[in-house]
Amino acid sequence: MPTPDRYAVIGNPIAHSKSPDIHALFAAQTKQNMQYQRLLAPLDKFESTIRQFIAEGGKGLNVTVPFKLDALALATSLTPRAQAAGAVNTLKFEKNTILGDNTDGKGLMTDIIQNTGYQITGAKVLLLGAGGAARGVIQPLLEQCPAKLVMANRSLNKAKELADFFAAAGHIEVSAFSELNEEFDIIINATSAGLSDDMPPIPSKVFRKSALALDMVYGDQLTPFLHFAAKNGACIRDGFGMLVEQAAESFFVWRGVRPDTRSVFSVLRPSSS
Ligand code: ATR
Repeated sequence: MPTPDRYAVIGNPIAHSKSPDIHALFAAQTKQNMQYQRLLAPLDKFESTIRQFIAEGGKGLNVTVPFKLDALALATSLTPRAQAAGAVNTLKFEKNTILGDNTDGKGLMTDIIQNTGYQITGAKVLLLGAGGAARGVIQPLLEQCPAKLVMANRSLNKAKELADFFAAAGHIEVSAFSELNEEFDIIINATSAGLSDDMPPIPSKVFRKSALALDMVYGDQLTPFLHFAAKNGACIRDGFGMLVEQAAESFFVWRGVRPDTRSVFSVLRPSSS
């Protein structure tokens, strides 16, 4: 058998990443001759770590915290969705080019629409946060034509800037957390508050009965946001589904083959499938 094509996820830290498990299952299922590893880059050696990976024949990388902006700068060409997201989570190495792509937004849309069955089209959507994670999903959310998209953030100015940046793609209403005064069908937490066991101070009235509450953060424990949402009658989902679906999209970018994600959920997260 020929040498397997090499892929990896690059970040710092990286030991916790589940991406190698996900891609190993995709590769086995689709019979792709490839290997996928974790690649720890020193904080000040992102570029040299990548250049070495390319020199050794590496074909592509997923990029995670804290390097998504460095990957944007390193890419020699960008897909429109990476440009809109302002960040790169997928690199594909071809002859003399480094293609930068972003599959996070597509991953979230697929997880919501296909895996939860909730429709974004015509729904009232609340997006919490105005950082990199929020920016990455705005364009794909607007493309689904929600009835309304409200973005709430602690620093209101950041939310206003982001809403202005995407003005040509669609209208985004900006709000402070404390001023939220209506029910939503879908509430997405794109703040990083869950990573420090915190949550944005939102009123309980934002959750319409059986609304979908999705936290982009995932882990073994429910985040405070998901606890609060469940207590207020929402259906809850963490970021694991988005992780699997963005991985599937990256796999498609690299290999031209679309893996079936259902079998990955049933192996890696039996409770969520
Ligand atoms: P990421 O790439 O994860 O989005 P980021 O760009 O640093 O990281 O953005 C973090 C987001 O989480 C921001 O919207 C931040 O709010 P501010 O813009 O006001 O800083 C939000 N955030 C982080 N911790 C938070 C907390 N404890 N409560 C509410 N919002 C929080």
